[in-house]
Amino acid sequence: MTHEHIIAQLTKPGDFRVAATDGKARQGYLMTAHGLVRTPVFMPVGTVGSVKSIDPRDLHEMEAQIILGNTYHLYLRPGDDVVARRGGLHAFNGWDGPILTDSGGFQVFSLSGLRKITDEGVEFRSHIDGSKHFFTPEKAISIQQNLGSDIMMCFDECAAYGATREYTEKALKLTTDWAKRCREFHEPGKNGQILFGITQGGFFQDLRERSIEELTALPFEGFSLGGLSVGEPKDKMLEILRASAPLLPADKPRYLMGVGTPLDILDGIEAGIDMFDCVLPSRNARNGTLFTSMGKVNIKRAEFKEDDSPLDPNCDCYTCRTFSKAYLRHLYTAKELLSYRLNTIHNLAYFLRLTKDARQAIREGRFASFKAGVEAVYGPNV
Ligand code: GUN
Ligand code: ZN
Repeated sequence: MTHEHIIAQLTKPGDFRVAATDGKARQGYLMTAHGLVRTPVFMPVGTVGSVKSIDPRDLHEMEAQIILGNTYHLYLRPGDDVVARRGGLHAFNGWDGPILTDSGGFQVFSLSGLRKITDEGVEFRSHIDGSKHFFTPEKAISIQQNLGSDIMMCFDECAAYGATREYTEKALKLTTDWAKRCREFHEPGKNGQILFGITQGGFFQDLRERSIEELTALPFEGFSLGGLSVGEPKDKMLEILRASAPLLPADKPRYLMGVGTPLDILDGIEAGIDMFDCVLPSRNARNGTLFTSMGKVNIKRAEFKEDDSPLDPNCDCYTCRTFSKAYLRHLYTAKELLSYRLNTIHNLAYFLRLTKDARQAIREGRFASFKAGVEAVYGPNV
């Protein structure tokens, strides 16, 4: 069957098909209420509703397919009720493509110093004004319903790196209980929203397997690996990734949350992951670290002061088509606002092209050599 025929069969949000495989790597298609997502996909992060320093026209030009928003941030500011009265996040932020919202689980744990976890939910303090709030699984879904995201995530507890087995096991149990409550509260089909489960289990492979078993017994439209890229050494992440990704259902999208570098993403794809998000390209752009087909470039370096060549001759993004390294260095050095925008456009274009090229390599059965080529440029640890 051709890819066009496969795509034509995806009629409702949540429909997903793997159209080509190469080893464990998959190239697939996921339907959402705001259109089709070709996987493997990289999702730029728009924490407060905007992908920092760029706008929806930029996102379309770089062929972004789907962006991320955060329940925690949008609940605190401007308030999910405010967004709902504006017609939801798509109407509010002007991005008409698919949006995935993270549940707030991760942010509550990583951003708020004071928090109190009970079976019922989590009490936390706002990182903005210190005010007290209480999230439950039902509240996290209710906020995501107000935001109107295409893909909602379950409320979970992500244990910190270094957490004991005992603690990790408790967090895993809570995550399963909360996933059941999220599923109960969500009304399937309503507004075309679909719901993904998040698996945890820290760095204990048997707990990972238990979490996957418990979560995949529930009827979610996709499943993620949470609790990775939380400060662990790369080989620990790879070990869990390679052992766990193949255990997620083959007929549903698989999402590796908060990962990662270009090579992490390729490792994920190789293990059978379909979806990725990370602040790395956009955050690094703002501190002058740029990802190119020749490796990482630090644009502030003096060697670029009079370098008239483009940042990456193999990149067709607006920044590389239009400006020289000398100008980009000048903007960075002068702390001009345009520096953030042009660097972000390039870095996101690089990550989006990396995943687009990966999709083609999988279709053509040469993913391993494609991955080796990128590794040769970046070295083993990027
Ligand atoms: N983003 C990165 N990791 C995680 C995780 O474990 N849980 C959630 N909800 N979001 C994440
Ligand atoms: Zn570029």
